Amino acid sequence: MRQKVLVARAVFADAIERLREHFEVETNDADDIWSQAEMIRRLQGKVGLFITGTQPIDAVLLAACPQLRAVCSMAVGYNNVDLPACTARGVLVSNAPDVLTQTTADFGFALMMAAARRITESEHFLRRGAWTKWSYDLFAGADVHGTTLGILGMGRIGQAIARRGALGFGMRVLYHNRSQLGAGVEAELGASYVTKEQLLRTCDHLVLVLPYSPASHHTIGAVELALMKATATLTNIARGGIVDDAALAHALRERRIAAAGLDVFEGEPAVHPDLLTLPNVVLTPHIASASLPTRRAMAHLAVDNLIAALGAGPHAGRPPTALNPEVLARH
Ligand code: DGY
Repeated sequence: MRQKVLVARAVFADAIERLREHFEVETNDADDIWSQAEMIRRLQGKVGLFITGTQPIDAVLLAACPQLRAVCSMAVGYNNVDLPACTARGVLVSNAPDVLTQTTADFGFALMMAAARRITESEHFLRRGAWTKWSYDLFAGADVHGTTLGILGMGRIGQAIARRGALGFGMRVLYHNRSQLGAGVEAELGASYVTKEQLLRTCDHLVLVLPYSPASHHTIGAVELALMKATATLTNIARGGIVDDAALAHALRERRIAAAGLDVFEGEPAVHPDLLTLPNVVLTPHIASASLPTRRAMAHLAVDNLIAALGAGPHAGRPPTALNPEVLARH
């Protein structure tokens, strides 16, 4: 009998087809958001689960689905998955790093530039017919080239943003991270390690690219925003919850910082109502990795992992981007 897998959200048909070559597949073509109870009900008898990134995988779900052996996500962030609980139960977990790095860095840069140069604010002005004449300071914003870029979280995406800033825009790059990069990488990126406080006080454009965990909750709140320059911008392409959105809205309204670009939000898809009313924030619906080729590559990487984790395909037993490969010895 074929092994059964569940695909928790709608996804590319060619990715599903690859799963069907190996497994009996239940899909979610309506793209409904299932409750945990519904997810548990549908997982009965399934050994594999494909998730798109936000579905919570916790100890309660794992206890209710003892036959589950692999959870493969097409997102790089996996704060929705209780990894220790999965490991304890012998459930293989994979994420989707690397394939989205450049696309996400492009978007982070675009969001930073849109905030600095007031692109959406000026577009709204034009669309509502308010543009009647050119004037010397019309939507005059901040420069990006030649300024100081601050990066909080210097993993793959942070480094890709640093490269764009240093090599493409002649920016001085400062960063803060749990660990300092090697001197060779710092030299290649033109990046210097500073304390979090120095970063906040010094940079002109701050980009957040750190993973979310209870330890990074509200890494940026009122205290941190107060340290930033009044002319600075803040861009968050990491996760909601890293920024205290209420404190950010307050800082933007009071012009304690100049502008922000946000792709992720606390409690998304809900957005703090104060942010929606402010002109000096660019808001996008968690799309930093959303180029079609990249989203397809993310989905196929999750498929590669699921096929391999369940002992099929050319990489059987060797899922390429497993987060807890040690559990495979127990399968
Ligand atoms: C990721 O891959 O983590 C992106 O945020 C998309 O969910």
